[in-house]
Amino acid sequence: MSAASERAGALISELRNIVSSGALSEKERVELLQSVVKFTTLLEKPEDAITKLLYTPSRFVALRVCSELKLFNQIVEHGPITSKELAHATGVDQLLIERLLRVLTASDFVTETAVATYAPSGVTEALATRLMTGMVEAVYDVGLPGMTAIPEYLRNTSYKNPHDAANGPWQLGRGIKDQQIFSWLQQHPRELGLMQTYFEADRGSRPNWVDWFPVEEKLIQNSGLDKDQVLLVDVAGGRGHELSAFLDKFPNLPGRLILQDQPHVLDDPTLGLDPRIEKKTIDFWVEGPVQGARIYYMKFILHDWSDEQCLQILSHLTAAMDKSTSLLVVEDFIIPDTGCHLLPAMWDIEMMAFLSAMERTRSQWQKLLSAAGLDVLGMYDPPGDGTGIIVSRLSS
Ligand SMILES: C[S@@+](CC[C@H](N)C(=O)[O-])C[C@H]1O[C@@H](n2cnc3c(N)ncnc32)[C@H](O)[C@@H]1O
Repeated sequence: MSAASERAGALISELRNIVSSGALSEKERVELLQSVVKFTTLLEKPEDAITKLLYTPSRFVALRVCSELKLFNQIVEHGPITSKELAHATGVDQLLIERLLRVLTASDFVTETAVATYAPSGVTEALATRLMTGMVEAVYDVGLPGMTAIPEYLRNTSYKNPHDAANGPWQLGRGIKDQQIFSWLQQHPRELGLMQTYFEADRGSRPNWVDWFPVEEKLIQNSGLDKDQVLLVDVAGGRGHELSAFLDKFPNLPGRLILQDQPHVLDDPTLGLDPRIEKKTIDFWVEGPVQGARIYYMKFILHDWSDEQCLQILSHLTAAMDKSTSLLVVEDFIIPDTGCHLLPAMWDIEMMAFLSAMERTRSQWQKLLSAAGLDVLGMYDPPGDGTGIIVSRLSS
């Protein structure tokens, strides 16, 4: 081993000790990751860096196929396991398994312990879960056609920033016209299920807002709520995972908790929500959520839509708010003016692909919410690269 790789090895084991000791805060962890991007750029030769980026789809393809074949589950349950044993268990060609898993061992997603022998890493374990399997399949099956159509779409539209949710890159990629994705999903149950799992999973392992944002101090104190009043409405809250997290964190706060979404989302018999969470249907294009709640919470909703459409949704929402007591809590990325992390920057392009939509900067949020008749009380950055919290109330 060369002196340089010995020194790198020592650095890696020092870092492993720091990470496994749990001494790293989320903020420090993400800062270190940013440095890794710089390390990679330093070591990579420019043409290689480009080639690896161009071949990135191979990693996603390998992930998608191995996920479908449940290879990650096999490796987690039986690893170390050989390609021969995996082929026997799945009925899949052994050589094909080796080729697909090679991309993932080289990506450090699966550990290679001997020739064609695989053991789980932390990433393999995550990939074997229901949430990550759904997310991989949703982003690949539902999202990729829109992503690959972006260059053609932008060429066709003379490079105007996309804003038409019903006729954007996603529709071009799928050969659909005049239909936005959520109404298409209603007619496609498999993809609807995948996308709802994606929404359930997309926070990943980034900390939940209830664990870093001072909820009681900023949203609850002196609210004088009693048990019959509405404490929190999750507007378009999908399967209610955020409300469940809120309830786990604050089981004793008085007041009702309400999940609102489209009927076909709430009808799902597998939801299994806590009996304290009430379900109420809503179509946010034509109606507001329940009246006079203390907190209206919206996560990853406004980033789905253009400013014009957000104003339509917000016009119904603000009509339901109480002037003196209601607060709107938006959880979305707050893009900084400089030094944006890679994750929100990539998410922004995903939003372009799916819905001709976008992530917003601090000043874009300020402008949008003011135009909706709201006063922003605070914008709070998360520890790390996740979503921020924006609190507002009706303008005085
Ligand atoms: C990006 S997901 C976010 C879900 C959830 N807030 C979360 O962060 O996990 C968007 C949600 O908007 C809901 N939605 C779409 N169109 C809607 C409409 N017209 N009325 C109510 N909800 C709608 C979808 O069903 C979906 O649950």
